[in-house]
Amino acid sequence: MIVLKTGRELKIMREACRISAGALKTAGMAVEPGVTTAELDKLAEDYILSQGGVPNFKNYQGYPATACISVNNEVIHGIPSKNRKLKQGDIVSIDLGAEFDGYHGDNAATFACGDVSAEAKRLMDITEQSLYKGIAAAVSGGRIGDISAAVQSFVEANDFSVVRKFVGHGIGTSLHEAPEVPNFGTAGRGVRLMPGMTLAIEPMVNAGGYDVKIMPDGWTVLTKDGSLSAHFEHTVVITNDGPRVLTLCEV
Ligand code: MF3
Ligand code: CO
Repeated sequence: MIVLKTGRELKIMREACRISAGALKTAGMAVEPGVTTAELDKLAEDYILSQGGVPNFKNYQGYPATACISVNNEVIHGIPSKNRKLKQGDIVSIDLGAEFDGYHGDNAATFACGDVSAEAKRLMDITEQSLYKGIAAAVSGGRIGDISAAVQSFVEANDFSVVRKFVGHGIGTSLHEAPEVPNFGTAGRGVRLMPGMTLAIEPMVNAGGYDVKIMPDGWTVLTKDGSLSAHFEHTVVITNDGPRVLTLCEV
């Protein structure tokens, strides 16, 4: 079931999303050689709690941390660890969210650890731009497939691939709600977009092929071919005046 949010609900969601965005920025700004992914996770968690939020990934289907932190060929769902020290040249995808007063926010971005290769920079840049192509297509009267096609066509025109196995999602009183928001598909297909729909749009883009595999820890998703991967995500609401990004940062 797709739930359209009222103005009252969107006000609360905006707060959950503001906290989510602040936590992402706080962790992202701390990315540098020598920092562990567990330290980044702690910064994010402390920020969320300081704002009166609750880390909404923690305990989600047994997930053990506040953030998913995925390095280089890790696509998503990397588990923060005190044994994982970041190195110069790594690209670091941080995905996290906060719940506030019963509503959820969710966002992600990939950060450079020191100087990274030209290819890594291009991958991060194209992935972030593909998110904005998807957001721009999230207009009332359109369809989910418009978002999917906008992301996919831009990524593939730049010779990268979009992950198929994991998708974006509706979001609201749950972290994951209907509808699914794939990053590949056909314009004009799928669920009709309407004002009050809140979506987490989140392209995962691989420098090589789109296939992925899961590590024995049961969580970490890797590119099958070992290529680099990047991930950007915003929580967005569709309005009569177009898409509005909710995960905006004020820190
Ligand atoms: N990263 C996922 C999303 O953006 C949710 C994380 S699930 C968790 O939708 F269990 F890892 F937290
Ligand atoms: Co999400």
